Amino acid sequence: MTTRDGVQHKVEGEGGRSLMETLRQAGFDEVLALCGGSCSCATCHVYVDEADLARLPSLSETESDLLDSSEHRTANSRLSCQIPFGPYLEGLRVTIAPED
Ligand code: FES
Repeated sequence: MTTRDGVQHKVEGEGGRSLMETLRQAGFDEVLALCGGSCSCATCHVYVDEADLARLPSLSETESDLLDSSEHRTANSRLSCQIPFGPYLEGLRVTIAPED
């Protein structure tokens, strides 16, 4: 995982936590997650490495609509609260998106 200052960190996941919860639990407060994971704030925006995108659960319409509200949306954008715990998190490379 790469923070906004470009520094890479290794983060250990824990069963049952979404990617957002995992990042917050690890102390990365720049993932604000203001809505607490209910897919209504987009402050948990991350960029997923191209090579890892396809193995994630697909983007829902709600997530996509909310990402549209970000000035920083790219083809690699995801909301980390919408990525539940699963085997695809192993080795997943993400970068925290700039703050909107
Ligand atoms: S925490 Fe608010 S949309 Fe993800």
